[in-house]
Amino acid sequence: MLQFNPREFIDEKISLLKREIGGETAIVALSGGVDSSVTAVLGFKAIGKKLRAVFLEDGFMRIGEAEKISRVFEKLGISVNVYNVQREFLTALKGIRDAEEKRRAFRETFYETFSRIAKEAGAKIVLQGTIAADIVETAGGVKTQHNVLEQIGINPLEKYGFKIVEPLKELYKKQVRMVARELGLPDEIVNRRPFPGPGLAIRILGEVTEEKLSIIKKATAIVEEELADVECFQAFPVLLEGRATGVDRESNRKYGYMVALRIVESEDAITARYVRLDWAKLDRVRDMIIMNIPEVCRVLYDVSDKPPATIEFE
Ligand code: XMP
Repeated sequence: MLQFNPREFIDEKISLLKREIGGETAIVALSGGVDSSVTAVLGFKAIGKKLRAVFLEDGFMRIGEAEKISRVFEKLGISVNVYNVQREFLTALKGIRDAEEKRRAFRETFYETFSRIAKEAGAKIVLQGTIAADIVETAGGVKTQHNVLEQIGINPLEKYGFKIVEPLKELYKKQVRMVARELGLPDEIVNRRPFPGPGLAIRILGEVTEEKLSIIKKATAIVEEELADVECFQAFPVLLEGRATGVDRESNRKYGYMVALRIVESEDAITARYVRLDWAKLDRVRDMIIMNIPEVCRVLYDVSDKPPATIEFE
């Protein structure tokens, strides 16, 4: 798609969605990111109030996300129903250490919960913001993205009782952002850095616990705020497995958590380069993390590119 024209794409997709959905009720789960936001707006332009927008607070979303996305959509005249389903997700992930198993457990819990919510709403069609990179990575066996089902042999209609429609599946991130801008979405959504579907669950290496979740949530808020002005594709912290030795303020030895900072530039998430962050900025993020999260005693900077590393750690 060399000469991508977002206006034409929007018009084509709206007619296609109208045809594909017909008179049915459809549902879309927002995550706060650009892909699901664009999907939702296209859906509303196609079928209006027959599209229900929901936000699943699964416990692995960023602090304040539900309120933020509800506010943005409220301004567009679209109301978002927020469902608190944290307990189900924490229970489903309990005891799981392996990254792929975690993704599987997350995916199953996500679609089971979502299918219940869809049924309550009377929706048999799910609009989903899957983009080309999600499919390429899953099909290539790099990692199973939580939102890719058919490519790994799962029939959503048989398993969960709904049909999935993916209006963005041939686009890459850059084109999705062009469409978002053309649709009049605010800059904070158009330029939002990608956030993985399983959220903070895959940014805690090894088993997810409430303590670790609380640490990564605070660290994520700090990194996003401190590095908001850095030009990059993604900037986020990861909570490493295990502990390292440190000293507390009274000079007592303590075992603390380790946080790695992952800041990368990329076009399409298929390859990526680590960002050579300014040292003063790095010091400031480190200080904010150490000062505000006493459980952490070490902050590391990841200098790996993709390949050989992936962007996320899991
Ligand atoms: P990796 O880690 O494979 O990530 O280099 C490539 C891009 O995809 C995002 N990512 C995900 N997004 N569900 C998503 O919706 C997932 O399961 C998932 N895993 C990774 C990642 O943040 C990066 O932008």
